Amino acid sequence: MEELIQQMKVYLADNVAFGMKAQQYHWNVEGDDFAQHHDFLGNLYTEVDGVIDQIGEFIRTLDAYAPLSPARMAELTTINDTDPAPEVMVMMRNLYNDNVKVIASLMEAFRSAERYSEVGLANFLQDRIAAHKKHQWMLRSILKDEEK
Ligand SMILES: [Fe+2]
Repeated sequence: MEELIQQMKVYLADNVAFGMKAQQYHWNVEGDDFAQHHDFLGNLYTEVDGVIDQIGEFIRTLDAYAPLSPARMAELTTINDTDPAPEVMVMMRNLYNDNVKVIASLMEAFRSAERYSEVGLANFLQDRIAAHKKHQWMLRSILKDEEK
């Protein structure tokens, strides 16, 4: 069970870091398609931030205490800090790569939740994997012409 608790803490920290980066980019994005990118990033951070409370409460259902201090989040997350205001396609590339890391954290936690028969948590994690797969599709589509 310790393993699952630790994986959930990493997922919490990754979710927080990912949401903060998307919000930071939402503020700092510039250029021709400003309104479109500003809105896309706004929707992205809002969706991701919307589950922070549920993640913390799932950690409590595992009878562990949920962390949320900035220092502890920085220690736990697999997501790197970056320039706060890069060019827009660098923003999208960074978020694409970070989203891959969030999905990896989610998959680890999901497999453990299944192993420990934590079916409610496994169900929640499955839904989060689907949500991040959708984010992946959208980020990939924005980056389509950049990859060549
Ligand atoms: Fe806003």
